[in-house]
Amino acid sequence: MSDRSLQKNVQTLNAEFARALESVKDFADLEDIRIEYLGRKGKIANLFKILGTLPENERKGAGRALNDLKERIQTVVSERQKILSHPEKSDLSFDVTLPGDRLPVGRYHPITLVLRKIKTCFQQMGFSVAQGPEVETDYYNFEALNFPKEHPAREIQDTLYVDDEIVLRTHTSPVQIRVMESQPPPVRIIAPGRCYRRDTPDATHTPVFHQVEGLCVDEGVTFADLKGVILTFARQMFGSDMKIRFRPSFFPFTEPSAEYDFSCLMCRGKGCRVCKGTGWIEISGAGMVSPEVFKCVGYDSERYTGYAFGMGVERITMLLYEVNDIRLFYENDVRFLHQF
Ligand code: PHE
Repeated sequence: MSDRSLQKNVQTLNAEFARALESVKDFADLEDIRIEYLGRKGKIANLFKILGTLPENERKGAGRALNDLKERIQTVVSERQKILSHPEKSDLSFDVTLPGDRLPVGRYHPITLVLRKIKTCFQQMGFSVAQGPEVETDYYNFEALNFPKEHPAREIQDTLYVDDEIVLRTHTSPVQIRVMESQPPPVRIIAPGRCYRRDTPDATHTPVFHQVEGLCVDEGVTFADLKGVILTFARQMFGSDMKIRFRPSFFPFTEPSAEYDFSCLMCRGKGCRVCKGTGWIEISGAGMVSPEVFKCVGYDSERYTGYAFGMGVERITMLLYEVNDIRLFYENDVRFLHQF
């Protein structure tokens, strides 16, 4: 026999083995085939014998093909042995009535849940949702909001600068300017989104956090409207016994300005560790839109007035779910996230 015809024999055996394998039903069938092909006097051994009779320089091609076939048959046989000895794992004995494996189900992040609640509250009061870029120009983040050039918030220690003119927005207030530039009054929007500050993370600070901005401009809008909207929000979010208070404060883009607090949820105003004994929890700033800002966006401040407010979303989430460390929101430990 020649090298060529031996190689042909190897091919034929290969096809024959594939056909034989199809009729295997149990261990005994498989064992028959194993002996027939791999046994000492089996078909593979036979071909090796013929290979031995070829002149040395002709053995190469057929030798390799034969070795490959032998290895392949060995692998297939031992795979099939494994399946037949664990019938519960083979396709043949799969019980389709068994309950399936449960896939782990994801949850919404607590910040997402609270953002949605906040949006719904304000949408019910007639606000629509506006958005602005997180990478903002100095003009929108500071200049148009009446921050003087030497204001400490503009310092490199507080603000993340991309270059001299571009910052990562430090609050959602620049969206006020963008909205007013793009439409005439009346305006009634909230602007939720991510903000950035150069803070070292601790229990109450993270360099990335969320705010919701509110802005309402129309004829005859007053501070009383602001208080009414904030109170309605507080009671929708936390319950009808919620109280709010405003304290005088300062922001360059509102006049007058205030900071506002919610009565402490933990002690319901009696005074506890969370509110440091005051009975109040600080939420954010608010005020009447400054005429300087109206000038920047071309609104007539003789005719229109407006209020604006900010809101720390992490802070509200911490109150709502009694979370005592803001960093938990950003560590993404599923044991924490699964609780919401
Ligand atoms: N932007 C202010 C801050 O981040 C909050 C604020 C919003 C104050 C709107 C007044 C009006 O602290």
